[in-house]
Amino acid sequence: MTSVSRLTPTKIVQELDKYIIGQGKAKRTVAVALRNRWRRLKVRGELQDEIVPNNIILIGPTGVGKTEIARRIAHITNAPFIKVEASKFTEVGYVGRDVESMVRELMDIAVSQIKAETAAKVIKKAIAAAEERILDLLIPPPKKSYSSIEDETSDAESQERYLRNRQKMKEMLRRGKLNDREVEITPQQGKPPHIELLSNIGLESLDLNIGEMFSSLLSPKQRNQKKKMKVPEAMKHLIADEQNRMIKNEEVMDKAKKLVENNGIIFIDEIDKIAISDKKGGLDVSRSGVQRDLLPIVEGSNVPTKYGVIDTRHILFIAAGAFHTSKPSDLIPELQGRFPLREEMNSLTQSDFVKILLYPQNSLIKQYKAIFQAEKTDLDFDDDAIEEIAGFASKANEKMEDIGARRLHTIITTLLDEYLFNMPEKKYNKVVITQDIVQQKLNRIIQDEDLARYIL
Ligand SMILES: Nc1ncnc2c1ncn2[C@@H]1O[C@H](COP(=O)(O)OP(=O)(O)OP(=O)(O)O)[C@@H](O)[C@H]1O
Ligand SMILES: [Mg+2]
Repeated sequence: MTSVSRLTPTKIVQELDKYIIGQGKAKRTVAVALRNRWRRLKVRGELQDEIVPNNIILIGPTGVGKTEIARRIAHITNAPFIKVEASKFTEVGYVGRDVESMVRELMDIAVSQIKAETAAKVIKKAIAAAEERILDLLIPPPKKSYSSIEDETSDAESQERYLRNRQKMKEMLRRGKLNDREVEITPQQGKPPHIELLSNIGLESLDLNIGEMFSSLLSPKQRNQKKKMKVPEAMKHLIADEQNRMIKNEEVMDKAKKLVENNGIIFIDEIDKIAISDKKGGLDVSRSGVQRDLLPIVEGSNVPTKYGVIDTRHILFIAAGAFHTSKPSDLIPELQGRFPLREEMNSLTQSDFVKILLYPQNSLIKQYKAIFQAEKTDLDFDDDAIEEIAGFASKANEKMEDIGARRLHTIITTLLDEYLFNMPEKKYNKVVITQDIVQQKLNRIIQDEDLARYIL
């Protein structure tokens, strides 16, 4: 995670390049849109509010990296990010109101994010405070006696002795020497702080945490039940408790709200599924209904959440869809207008497949090498075997339907199936996949179109 100010468009593209092959134009557009958010915040005065995000639609066949780009953006920017499937909102029971749930979920994400950040900032102080509380339990401070003057001097002495012992204990605690000692604490203290609910909005629009509600129904006696536990576990509870005490809910909510409103990103996947190509039937009503529901959110409206009202005007929306059977122009005109940027993503070629197999940091080949490693077996692919696999992938995509890089998954699993099944009973010290092996295993399948349809 890089700090936002250093995430220039070039850097963002470089970061995306580590995982996604090709699709340069889409990467570039997304990178500029992300940077523009940051730029807007540098603008002072009224103009800042006038600058609205350039929402994007990524268009491209299945399996070419649309969702992958979105996933990676979430990793590299510090912005609260959520991915939703547009088609989800057309399901029975989801129509209408629930489109706002994406904003609520985004806010939930931002709140946890800010809480985690704040918790990390106060962790040192929290540990120190928790240590003191453990020491109070293990070596309680001496009681003061106020009877006479002689007692006072001996009090001072015993106080000094006590502090020395306490210091010794602290060192033992830190070195783990007290890990077997037990202490009695109230474990619930370590629960996350309770966040005030706004009571003036409809309950049904809130995602209430039932568990939290029930735990607050417990009687005070049940809640304050003490429990014996070993020191390390008690430390965990006490540290969490101290962190909670140091985190100010108001501040967290305030920061989270700003973060969502200024930097939030909502990725709407499968947007083509709510576009209408031929106007007939009841499904279409619900589809255009979802589009109408989306409209105010994308345009900017106030959405109530349990942390307060969120203004969605500057949230960045990135939509994606294959648009096989529909076109972006099949979306209702108002919604089209809210997505001024269109980026077409390319179908992947054989040479893209070679790169996809080899270069991404999480490439399939790297994944399977790691899986084989779990059985203490080395896995290797000859260069011409990789070429061959890529060739088969693009042939299969041509012969059947084009499922993009997903084809590589099916091909590699078919190819490695025998080894994956036979390990570990059968010992392979090293498996080298050669061009011959690829041809042997795949030729028969690709020749027979029916067979291919089932297997690849
Ligand atoms: N250009 C690419 N570079 C590297 N990997 C890719 C690329 N395109 C797709 N992949 C891989 O293929 C798989 C599917 O990609 P992704 O989920 O991005 O497809 P998509 O474009 O969203 O398709 P759909 O329209 O079906 O949702 C993922 O595992 C992804 O890592
Ligand atoms: Mg997708």
